[in-house]
Amino acid sequence: MAKLIDGKMISQQIKDELKAKVATLKEEGKDICLAVIQVGNDPASTVYVGNKKKACEYIGIKSLAFELPEETTEEELIGIIDKLNNDNDVDGILVQLPVPKHINEDTIIKSISPKKDVDGFHPASVGALSIGQHGFVSCTPAGVIQLLKRSNIEIAGKECVVIGRSNIVGKPMSMMLLRENGTVTVCHSKTKDLKDVCKRADILVVAIGKPKMIDESYVKDGAVVIDVGIHRDENNKLCGDVDFESVEKKASYITPVPGGVGPMTIAMLMNNCVEAGINK
Ligand code: GUN
Repeated sequence: MAKLIDGKMISQQIKDELKAKVATLKEEGKDICLAVIQVGNDPASTVYVGNKKKACEYIGIKSLAFELPEETTEEELIGIIDKLNNDNDVDGILVQLPVPKHINEDTIIKSISPKKDVDGFHPASVGALSIGQHGFVSCTPAGVIQLLKRSNIEIAGKECVVIGRSNIVGKPMSMMLLRENGTVTVCHSKTKDLKDVCKRADILVVAIGKPKMIDESYVKDGAVVIDVGIHRDENNKLCGDVDFESVEKKASYITPVPGGVGPMTIAMLMNNCVEAGINK
């Protein structure tokens, strides 16, 4: 039976460490500030943005909320980002995605200063990660690395298989595992013999976006299985990309959904904000 990797507990630990750091910085007269921009009122985005503001409050980071109407033009949004780029009191800038269709997401991501790119989505941040230079990294894969490290799971020399190649999770995940000296394979929808590739993995990171797709037949005995997915099943219960009941019998470690990778994303965002403030 697999051991549970408790993302709720580990994310709480990280937030408490950051809270102490932010308090020390405050004593030195340094306040940390995150600007959060939401365009339109997509209900899921409103929940995510609300959770980010709550985490800021808990840690002692000031959050500036920009709730812009759906009709906001690309030019208007870039104008606001530009002001925030040049505002010395603002350490991090986050534009909640997706943005409305009339706004080009890539243009917006590029308009944020890499120094304030706490999401780690700017091409300069992505490029820095790929060549081992300092820069912000995407929060969800950074959270996965923390889950592994804080559970004392060695990455160096391990066969790491990532299923999914998105810009936010799969690609940066593979670069971060490589940075930790893992032997990394990235799988995607065109991968042949997915099951055989997955069965080689010592560490299997699943970010496919298909509920409960990965069952025990994809998993090597004793593998570490990290589930990045989040869905509602036929009974409206939260589930991941991994069939938990099936895989937990075979894996050595597994992340639950909810309470695994999910809470780590915000913790790592907060970590990036603190870094932004320190390195200003
Ligand atoms: N939408 C879904 N996930 C994210 C994220 O990590 N950052 C931003 N900015 N938007 C998102």
